[in-house]
Amino acid sequence: MAVVRRGCWPWGSILGLLGLVSAAAAAWDLASLRCNFGSFCECDFRPDLPGLECDLAQHLAGQHLAKALVVRSLKAFIQDPAPSKPLVLSLHGWTGTGKSYVSSLLAHYLFQSGLRSPHVHHFSPIIHFPHPSHIEHYKKDLKTWVQGNLTACGRSLFLFDEMDKLPPGLMEVLRPFLGPSWVVYGTNYRKAIFIFIRWLLAFWHYRGTSARCHCALPPTPAAPRAALCAQ
Ligand SMILES: *[C@@H]1O[C@H](CO)[C@@H](O)[C@H](O)[C@H]1NC(C)=O
Repeated sequence: MAVVRRGCWPWGSILGLLGLVSAAAAAWDLASLRCNFGSFCECDFRPDLPGLECDLAQHLAGQHLAKALVVRSLKAFIQDPAPSKPLVLSLHGWTGTGKSYVSSLLAHYLFQSGLRSPHVHHFSPIIHFPHPSHIEHYKKDLKTWVQGNLTACGRSLFLFDEMDKLPPGLMEVLRPFLGPSWVVYGTNYRKAIFIFIRWLLAFWHYRGTSARCHCALPPTPAAPRAALCAQ
């Protein structure tokens, strides 16, 4: 307003501002255009990290460190337009936590259509790999699926629930996809997110029947617990 009254337009900054606005509009147009025509597979990827942080804070008691680390690793990874390797998160929870809760929460805050997104792949041992004797078959399938889905869209989320119940050795086939090498089987896989969820048996000493109970953990632990490592 002051500028107008003085009758003098700071043309430089106005031009700069116009430039910024049109660049932003062009970028936005391009993205929305690509999304409108359905040609851009990343349109469903709409991370809402403040939402995730808030939901974790409301629903998971304790574990501030683990929560902060999850959010921090996701933020750093998402803000990097060309990550050098995929994000690998390994979460440990206690049984009794609501096994599907963490998976659906993460999917929900990363992809607009959550677990229903075509780029969210949720693997559960009981559904996908029920027979340990079919391990070789599962290995081939899993490798083909991950590779196929990453070829279709680099921005894919792979969630592996109940890692402790997976046939041993199955995860070996994922190894080439998790590291920092440049290209695997001709696929750009470096924008992918892999989350491994392992459920531990809640364990507490129970001596006698009454006051002598030494509870190492509360009987109904409410929080997916402890360690996760971000690669
Ligand atoms: C993607 O993964 C799913 C399993 O989640 C599989 O059924 C599907 O065939 C895979 N798609 C491709 C293109 O490989």
